[in-house]
Amino acid sequence: MHIKLEAAADSLINGDVVAVPTETVYGLAASLGQLDAIHRIFALKGRPINNPLIIHVAGVDQIVPYALSLPPDFNKLAHAFWPGPMTLIVPIRQDLIYPVVRAHLDTAGFRIPSHPLARQLLAKTGPLVMPSANLSGKPSATSREHVEEDFGFDFPVLDGGRCQKGIESTILCYQNHRWIIVRLGALSSQDFVPILGYEPLIAENENNKSKPICPGQLYRHYAPQAILILKQDGEDRENAPFILGFKERSYPKEKRVLWMGSLDNPYEVAENLYGVLRQLDREQAHLAWVDMDFPADGLWVTIRERLMRAGEK
Ligand code: TXA
Ligand code: MG
Repeated sequence: MHIKLEAAADSLINGDVVAVPTETVYGLAASLGQLDAIHRIFALKGRPINNPLIIHVAGVDQIVPYALSLPPDFNKLAHAFWPGPMTLIVPIRQDLIYPVVRAHLDTAGFRIPSHPLARQLLAKTGPLVMPSANLSGKPSATSREHVEEDFGFDFPVLDGGRCQKGIESTILCYQNHRWIIVRLGALSSQDFVPILGYEPLIAENENNKSKPICPGQLYRHYAPQAILILKQDGEDRENAPFILGFKERSYPKEKRVLWMGSLDNPYEVAENLYGVLRQLDREQAHLAWVDMDFPADGLWVTIRERLMRAGEK
């Protein structure tokens, strides 16, 4: 149910949970100071309690009071990519942020979103925690309709239209004198080269399950009900009634094809991705074949990772 900006701000300040648009995906927001509302977010999503939340703020000046120190090149990154789809992990003053927000870590993730409604809201409310506004494990929500699919028609949503990036923020953390990517996202590793002078490595979370750098990476994600067959060639296509494909390609006529977008435009594919995965559920698909024959650079790296995770059973 759409609510207006003023009502959303009042609800959040009074300790309610509201869904909020950002340029990446919709978030399920609570005020950083409202502990009950923060717990409600975990309950609503069915989110594991040891998966920390990103703190969204209106400007860098709202991060500084919480930070123990700002890692090297923090300001350069902030200047280049905020407001926008980047989250930076920062060592924090632990007494100022509830342990549940940061899963008892001594760090927290911060982001300044660029969606105009998110910015106007943050200016009124102060810092908001916001995980993606989907049931844990499901594809993220990139429209108000997606949020309502997961949380019901009466759930309060600040409707900001379709999310333009369509894929979550890229999360970076500073370790051993370098920034590394701990979650792939809407900014690719190459995007950081002009700013940092090097391409940040992509962390292997699997190697360190007892103390992961990004706890959320260990959980199942983005998955529709259907089994996904991910293939680079036509192999194993016969048995699947559904295909996730690209506009330039032709697929067998008897199949129901859901279009991810154009092979020339990874931004379009990213924008459509979660909507297409959700469409499979809407059409009660059991088996879908996914065309994985696409480039391996830039944003395609994130798209491939999301599809592979969506296909994990
Ligand atoms: O684009 C986005 O980032 C969206 C929008 C709503 O801003 N938010 C989002 O939140 O994707 P969520 O909760 O779905 O994913 C947050 C990720 C999780 O994988 C979590 O483990 C990681 O951020 N994270 C949060 N705090 C962290 C920390 N202190 N250290 C390492 N990882 C952290
Ligand atoms: Mg999420």
